[in-house]
Amino acid sequence: MKTNAILLAFAFAGVSCLATVPTFTIDASHSAGNVSPLLYGLMTEEINHAYDGGLYAELIQNRAFLDDATTPVHWSVVSDDHSAATLALDPTNSFNDQLTMSLRLMVTEAGKEHPAGVANSGYWGIPVQPRTTYRATILARADSNFSGPVTVSIVSDDGSKVYASKKFSGLATGWKKFEVRLKTGRVAPTAQARFVITLDQPGTLWLGMVSLFPPTWHNQPNGFRKDLMQMLVDLNPKFLRFPGGNYLEGSTVDSRFEWKKTIGPIDRRHGHEGPWGYRSTDGLGLLEYLEWCQDMNAQPVMAVYAGYSLDGKHINPGPDLQPFVQDALDEIEYVIGGTTTTWGAQRARDGHPAPFNLNYVEIGNEDWFDKSGSYDQRFAQFYDAIKAKYPRLKVISTIGDDQPESARVHGRKPDVLDGHYYRSVSDFLRMSPGYATNYDRSGPEIFVGEWAAYETSFPPWDRRSERQPPTPDLKAAIGDSVFMAAMERNSDLIKMQCYAPLLVNVNPGARQWRPDLIGYNAISCYGSPSYYAIQMFSRNLGDEILSTASIQTPVQGCATRDSKTGEIFVKLVNPQATAATVAIRITGATALASTGTVIALTGKADGSNSIRQPRNVVPVTTTTNGFGPNFDCTLPPFSIIVLKLKAQPA
Ligand code: AHR
Repeated sequence: MKTNAILLAFAFAGVSCLATVPTFTIDASHSAGNVSPLLYGLMTEEINHAYDGGLYAELIQNRAFLDDATTPVHWSVVSDDHSAATLALDPTNSFNDQLTMSLRLMVTEAGKEHPAGVANSGYWGIPVQPRTTYRATILARADSNFSGPVTVSIVSDDGSKVYASKKFSGLATGWKKFEVRLKTGRVAPTAQARFVITLDQPGTLWLGMVSLFPPTWHNQPNGFRKDLMQMLVDLNPKFLRFPGGNYLEGSTVDSRFEWKKTIGPIDRRHGHEGPWGYRSTDGLGLLEYLEWCQDMNAQPVMAVYAGYSLDGKHINPGPDLQPFVQDALDEIEYVIGGTTTTWGAQRARDGHPAPFNLNYVEIGNEDWFDKSGSYDQRFAQFYDAIKAKYPRLKVISTIGDDQPESARVHGRKPDVLDGHYYRSVSDFLRMSPGYATNYDRSGPEIFVGEWAAYETSFPPWDRRSERQPPTPDLKAAIGDSVFMAAMERNSDLIKMQCYAPLLVNVNPGARQWRPDLIGYNAISCYGSPSYYAIQMFSRNLGDEILSTASIQTPVQGCATRDSKTGEIFVKLVNPQATAATVAIRITGATALASTGTVIALTGKADGSNSIRQPRNVVPVTTTTNGFGPNFDCTLPPFSIIVLKLKAQPA
């Protein structure tokens, strides 16, 4: 047998003709099953300031003054030794029945050189970028003695630099909406800035809402932060699971995600208390979720509220639950109904006449927590109603393959089971080789709707996690990767999977959970090693599963093939602190080229990325010779490798 040695360009030596090398064999003679085209997706909810202070590009924190009932948090007085102003929340002067609070600004002393007013500190700073146009929207009214002018600015925290400024006038005693464009010049990027509204004469005005948007992804109004969207698109996701997670359920029934309150103009969205300790504006509402899917060319996997909340209370199946079932049917109609249906017409009025491509609906979230056992019947009630109206939709049960069979639903056969796997790296290393191998292939399909490896000795929900970095290190990415390899090997049955949580604002006090995939502050973002591992896997995925076997090696992996081009993707993970040499044996492949591509993510086990060091651990791609049916490959310590091998289609 001829054996080549792969000398990979990023500093590890190939080894040839070892007497008893451990072996990784790939049977390319036939496809062992289809790779699910939806395998890689994203899980999202409002946690860690994922939307407000994250993906949702709004820059003003507490824009509608509803975050705290007694204090205008994140707002402060602007004045100097020669000017004076006071601020007060005023529920008696509200803009409408949704924006039920206003901020009264009374400027008692001010002049041209000594303006006074109010400032917003943003979500840990207002990001200032050079030559950028920001769009401010201000709902305001004034007392009869004052009509303007009002100055709107973006100013450095210490007040010494004005990055952009504009005046508007025309205030009246009735509410009016003012739109102001603020354009920066050639400034250095910074987030040490705030948004300021000032008067240069005494006067009283009320603010009903103050909003500030930078340029957004595809310039969508009420849209998304561009850098974060680019990072998400780069993961090549095929679906988006939303809106939770716990965020769907809410701490109580009354604080659940009520989709009907999240649509329409943002000045008609009251927002709600989320389960993660802060209030949501609901600026990113149902339509924005759907447009987010569309922007990524991904399908929605939409979870509907199923009558169970985090306080452990449930709605009794039967007549009590029926309004919630109807609400879910209305929600589905909003997503896929024609414009002649009630909710399809509402979608059109909201600006999106075309229906979305919905195939999966999930009933609740983690309903194994409902110890009353009501989920079986609640699931059946939703299942029957959805199937009666939309027989083609696949209905997902939230008691998944991670739970014992006896705990799952039995009243109806779900189309899909959603299992959640937050496991230590060592647990993933132990469980991945055998994961799903003995599952019944006749279904239900498996959705791994939340998963992540943690590298700590305690789980994410332990308080000690608060003292750890928000994003995981390379060792965690190793755990993630062996699990991804297992899911690829079984992706005839594992139809979808998504890491969670996806996003974290890294500022102190902003997060509730670690590890998270992507970190950011007001002005920059970075991917964790796990982010890059997922990217390597999701962007190098064929449509055919190839059978693999590891012999005498701790290296775990998988192989797939693109049936059209014949290209074979081999993924190998070395979890050890020492290099590992494996003999790769590929049988049944036609015309395997000797030149191929190697993508490698490697480094120190505790190597990680951060805002300061965003590219410490990133994949390196090289073109390498020496591939063929038999070659030896030496994997560096703690490494995740993708080999892209050219061959003819089977
Ligand atoms: O991902 C964080 C939380 O973990 C989700 O909200 C919940 O579904 C799970 O328990």
